[in-house]
Amino acid sequence: MKRTITISAALLALGASLCGQEITQEHKERARMLVSQMTLEEKINYIGGYRDGFHIMPVERLGIPEIRMADGPQGVRNNTKSTLFACGAAAAATWNPETVYEMGTALGQDSRARGVHILLGPGLNIYRSPLCGRNFEYMGEDPYLASTMAVSYIKGVQSQGVMATAKHFALNNQEYDRHHVSSDADERTMHEIYFPAFKAAVEEAHVGSVMTSYNLVNNVHAAENPYLIREVLKGKWGFDGFVMSDWTSTYTALGCVKGGLDLEMPRAFLMNMDEIRPLMESGAISEREIDEKVQNILQSLVAFGFLDREQKDESIPEDNPYSREVAYRMACESPVLLKNNGILPLKSGKKNSIAVLGPNADRIPCGGGSGKVDPIYSISLAEGLKQLGKQYHICHLSASEGRDYDSEENISVLKSAGTVIVSVGFDTETEKENSDRTFSLPQGQDELIEFALEHNKNVVVVVYAGGGFDMSRWHDRVSAILLGWYPGQEGGLAISHILAGTVSPSGRLPISIERHLENNPTARSYYPSEPKTKRGSTNRSVTYSEGVFMGYRGYDRTGVKPLYPFGHGLTYSHFTYSGLEVTPSGDGFDVSFTLCNDGKHDAAETAQVYVGAASPCVPRPVKELKGFSKTFVRKGESARVTIHLDREDFAYYDTIIKDFTADPGIYTIMVGASSEDIRLSSEIKL
Ligand code: BGC
Repeated sequence: MKRTITISAALLALGASLCGQEITQEHKERARMLVSQMTLEEKINYIGGYRDGFHIMPVERLGIPEIRMADGPQGVRNNTKSTLFACGAAAAATWNPETVYEMGTALGQDSRARGVHILLGPGLNIYRSPLCGRNFEYMGEDPYLASTMAVSYIKGVQSQGVMATAKHFALNNQEYDRHHVSSDADERTMHEIYFPAFKAAVEEAHVGSVMTSYNLVNNVHAAENPYLIREVLKGKWGFDGFVMSDWTSTYTALGCVKGGLDLEMPRAFLMNMDEIRPLMESGAISEREIDEKVQNILQSLVAFGFLDREQKDESIPEDNPYSREVAYRMACESPVLLKNNGILPLKSGKKNSIAVLGPNADRIPCGGGSGKVDPIYSISLAEGLKQLGKQYHICHLSASEGRDYDSEENISVLKSAGTVIVSVGFDTETEKENSDRTFSLPQGQDELIEFALEHNKNVVVVVYAGGGFDMSRWHDRVSAILLGWYPGQEGGLAISHILAGTVSPSGRLPISIERHLENNPTARSYYPSEPKTKRGSTNRSVTYSEGVFMGYRGYDRTGVKPLYPFGHGLTYSHFTYSGLEVTPSGDGFDVSFTLCNDGKHDAAETAQVYVGAASPCVPRPVKELKGFSKTFVRKGESARVTIHLDREDFAYYDTIIKDFTADPGIYTIMVGASSEDIRLSSEIKL
């Protein structure tokens, strides 16, 4: 019996030595001294962005340096080329918090190499529908998975002396009309589904800053929303870092001051002398309220050591070998093998020539908007396949457009190939910030897959996307489908190794993929209902009427089957699950079971633990993810896995007591390979 889990002990130790950005009384006191020495004008100037909109201004006479920010989340952007990592959705698809911690660490190092103090990531909005243009930046549909990954990412970034930013708080689940749309959800839904990743970022990872969202939440702009900022973030969760607005998302100076916003970005359109002085003169706001904001910013900067050292670390190269290595590992661990009829791993040899084509074969696409990073270098799938070596006979079919493949020469290559790989998906233009995307693949791509199928029955589809997409036209006819997300600069090489079997596929879906868009539990509540006349014709609202029943929670409720369920992902091996034991431990339970790799390949299995209440007193999901473990097991070997459940893993948000509570009663513990593939279960009494 053997259990092997990847643990990067050295890195965790390094992180621990640099960690410690928790804001102490000492930090607060030092900040208070600084605030007391600032003039009113200096203080008001301090609470708005500066220069190019990615800086906080210096106060030289007090030794406060200029602070530099950069996006986030999948690389360091803004006036620089840098390592392009796998996107947020891909990070969640690794189901490996240690790898994500390393990604954060590498991002922290890339920031230090460039003198960046504050990285504008991670993106922690929950995947509600495949249509949201920024899903690729976020960490999937499940609050537990997203929280776990958020904590790892933030701890990694902050371990290097760089402040992370949890964004966009809150309910920024669509890009459509994002400046005007109000995301309207009930309190329980917000606390159970849309808040937990932010809560974990604050309480467990001690994130330094939080960015509000563009949208309104329950009719109040997020940047001016006292419920979100004062009551929940600073009140309930005790956040003592600082809150910045998203870029141009403020509407009134009074709302910003009263709502609890600390820093207006990209500059002080409203929190400036002209707007604030009359409000102070009329008594609507006091100087203390301004001091509080400056205090929150400064105590965070002090805690991160920004007043005491140079942020640029000359010893770290901009093209950091460690970052490249982590980017490669992320790209190996995140692609999800959705379907495989046995065609993969690719067979080598002259007889199995491999034709590769498609709009994404020659490049590594990335989602667009502020999350777009220009890599120092990248490797495409076609190049990666060629690097596999001479034993693979690769024919790269190129064309000036997705539809110009139709030449006699290309058709004859397709006909004679042993396997055809079609690389499709979205890119900077078709999946991006500030607009939503289509469920169908970009124009002409379904036709391209069908064209390949016309000439060869052994078609493998590699898709780059930030979420689910429509496969209905060709799904049943292709031999394999690999979802690569946006895998980052090393994606072409990593995916080639996965296709060839030198790297075992181990990504799992952090989302459910619907067969048809209308099956998605939010299909009728994604687009705004009628415009609300009281706010004028441009202001609309989206009512999250599905409540907590989104993603797999929604599918479980209706019994509709997704095409690929949450947690799904094939390996080249086969695992059996046995020997479930659930034993009381502390105030919770230890869930133990055995994974046996009885297939023909070494592989990692991601076992998932779900909890469901037998007779809940409020409507609750049939099951909810509360633990998981990615375990590497050699072929023929077994591993015993233990996952601990705390009492809070049985809890729901009780709107009467305004907190989470776990009712006594019977609960089912389910262990499986996806939300639809439960292999073991047992009942416990709480
Ligand atoms: C985005 C933020 C980003 C900011 C700065 C905004 O448009 O919503 O996520 O950090 O721009 O680029």
